[in-house]
Amino acid sequence: MARVEALTVLLSCHFLLARFSNGELLEMSEELTGGGTFRRGTNSEQHIQTWRQIQASVKRQAYLNLHSMDFQLPAKYGINLFSHLSPEQFRDIYLRAWPEVAPKYNMTKHGRPGSERYLPRFDWREHGAVGPVQNQQSCGGCWAFSVVAAIEAVHVKDGGKLQDLSVQQVIDCDYKSQGCNGGSTVSALEWLKQTKEKLVNETEYPYKAETGLCRVFPQLYGGVSVKDYTAFDFSGQEELMMERLVDWGPLVVIVDATSWQDYLGGVIQHHCSSRHANHAVLIIGYDTTGEVPFWIVRNSWGTSWGNGGYVYVKMGDNMCGIADTVAGVFL
Ligand SMILES: *[C@@H]1O[C@H](CO)[C@@H](O)[C@H](O)[C@H]1NC(C)=O
Ligand SMILES: *[C@@H]1O[C@H](CO)[C@@H](O)[C@H](O)[C@H]1NC(C)=O
Repeated sequence: MARVEALTVLLSCHFLLARFSNGELLEMSEELTGGGTFRRGTNSEQHIQTWRQIQASVKRQAYLNLHSMDFQLPAKYGINLFSHLSPEQFRDIYLRAWPEVAPKYNMTKHGRPGSERYLPRFDWREHGAVGPVQNQQSCGGCWAFSVVAAIEAVHVKDGGKLQDLSVQQVIDCDYKSQGCNGGSTVSALEWLKQTKEKLVNETEYPYKAETGLCRVFPQLYGGVSVKDYTAFDFSGQEELMMERLVDWGPLVVIVDATSWQDYLGGVIQHHCSSRHANHAVLIIGYDTTGEVPFWIVRNSWGTSWGNGGYVYVKMGDNMCGIADTVAGVFL
């Protein structure tokens, strides 16, 4: 059975490669790179490069899909908005979170006795705490997006209204980060805690997708500030993360998102390593009721990526390093 399936995939890969004739790939590269800039039929160096990268993407995706065969609810990989980028270009633009080592979570020391009751599924979206998926565009500010989204959610959890808070303010003002060139979720939370910086509304400090000068607001100005945060390594104890997510609110995590370049949907269960963090995201829920328990993860690459901007990551194996550095926010 497995061999038959493997053969089918191999055949469909050839089919896929054959289906994309050079012309079609050129057309696709035009579409992916925003059309107009390259004229069809020109031999521009950049255009040929893009076309080669899409070909390489198709091969990489076929390889990833071949491995998905062994799993239930497998992730699917294929042509998406990042297929015209080489893995190096993708990394340089989008994978800009700095790794952080957090202390191991110790239930005896940090937990609350008797709190280890797990709901089989939980989703902060159903509690009105999660706004629409954002798009960081070509700014490496993922670390700020995940932190701000966590603050928005905890503000709702604490009885506030769902507000779109300014990511740009964190990108511009957290002097420990390098803005769109990268930053750390943990150090951004530390900065927010120490300075008590009040995050203003997105409309007052809109997102520009580039690092700018920090705008300072008068003291009396309203906004949401962070009282405290906590960051732990939950690897090997993901069941404890479930209860923490319900108690603390959405969790800020850093992951290895290298293989996410090709992700289309489904539950990621392979080719996603731990201890190589390069991207920051927000866990907003989980589901353990099906064959494969998974985390529901909100990304900041727009709604056309993944499952409407979300990605599902298998629970229990520290897949993508999702349990390595887990932060909760307190307002
Ligand atoms: C957890 O914390 C308790 C209490 O501080 C300590 O006795 C225990 O050794 C710790 N366990 C681990 C695995 O560090
Ligand atoms: C931000 O916008 C919300 C409505 O979305 C409003 O209730 C709140 O007062 C605004 N906050 C500030 C600091 O202006």
